[in-house]
Amino acid sequence: MSTLKVLFGKHWKTCFGKRLLTTQIRKITQGPLYTEVESIANQQPHIQCRSRKYLAGSSSSNLPETVPIYTHSEFKGIAITDAHIDKQIQEIGASIRPSLDQIFQQNKSCILIKNLPIKEAKDFNDFVKGLDYVAMSYDTGVAFRSEVESLLYSASDEPFEYSIELHNEMVYLSKFPAKIMFCCLKQAPRGGESPIVFNRDLIKLINPEVLDKFRKKGIRYLRSTKHQKNTDYIAWQHTFSTESEKVAEEKMLRDGYQWEWRENGDVTIWYNLPAFFSHPITGEEIWLNQAVPSHCSYFKSHPMYDGKEELSPSEYHFHTCYGDGAEIEDDVIDHIRSIIWNNAMSLKLLPGDVVIMDNLYCQHSRMSFEGGERKIVVSLAEPISR
Ligand SMILES: [Fe+2]
Repeated sequence: MSTLKVLFGKHWKTCFGKRLLTTQIRKITQGPLYTEVESIANQQPHIQCRSRKYLAGSSSSNLPETVPIYTHSEFKGIAITDAHIDKQIQEIGASIRPSLDQIFQQNKSCILIKNLPIKEAKDFNDFVKGLDYVAMSYDTGVAFRSEVESLLYSASDEPFEYSIELHNEMVYLSKFPAKIMFCCLKQAPRGGESPIVFNRDLIKLINPEVLDKFRKKGIRYLRSTKHQKNTDYIAWQHTFSTESEKVAEEKMLRDGYQWEWRENGDVTIWYNLPAFFSHPITGEEIWLNQAVPSHCSYFKSHPMYDGKEELSPSEYHFHTCYGDGAEIEDDVIDHIRSIIWNNAMSLKLLPGDVVIMDNLYCQHSRMSFEGGERKIVVSLAEPISR
């Protein structure tokens, strides 16, 4: 075995192999890749929740006045050290990945990374390339978003005055991302915050009888999806990335949907999924569904329905009920929604901030904003199936 000497302070120590020598010297000259951000709570804004215009369920007296400000135990903030920010952004992504894996293994489910040299979407795309997660597309997703770079989408193209309530990404489908990453390129002048909430808290706080009912019945997801000639909103051509009814049908068949075409070209879709997900490694039962954020009450608060006559639940863009077709009771929706907002954590992303979430445990959202543009891009990764 060869021996080499590595500089350590003013002393020489004996180590093995040339590669180790290079690495050690680099670490000594550059120091650690990141430092921990002790607390971010004192930097977070007060976000109005109750009575907020265009926020689903905000008229309920059970919602908090404002989103709680604190640092949750599943949240961790880190900052790349100045000695490393001159590196290629892709190299920083590759270097930080083992540390991220380690942090996620320590029961953290949301990691905020600050001080990254990111100015535009391409920089974040290169960072994501460096992280080397398995990429996932947004095919068959129901939200309004457009492709920005090879690995990125716009976080949401919904109207700015609308608040998108807390949700896990794409868990209304049988295949969804286990990781979701956001990067802020431009913060809104006012509002546009990104509160989060943690599913391990929700399963402890939701009434056990309510949980049991969902456990037994599961959830039926319904979509009333229009032909693009009939809407300026999300059409089935957008959802299925095709102009062809045949290709759309192939995708629906693949995903186990039932559907019915209307004479005007619109299509109604429905399918059942469990309300819980069993963790593939630990077997832990996770509350993982969109019973609330895909409920028609979400759309009743949408600006495009403002002032319009109320429709029947299944006529909204999407809707949820129990797996046997019975409507979820209003007080159950309010109960879950109030637990979500009372346990959410205020979070505002600043330009250059990246946040990486375990999509099994951490929910995200977008509050309404005003005064100018807000630009946040998203990357989906590590597809997982029920
Ligand atoms: Fe989302």
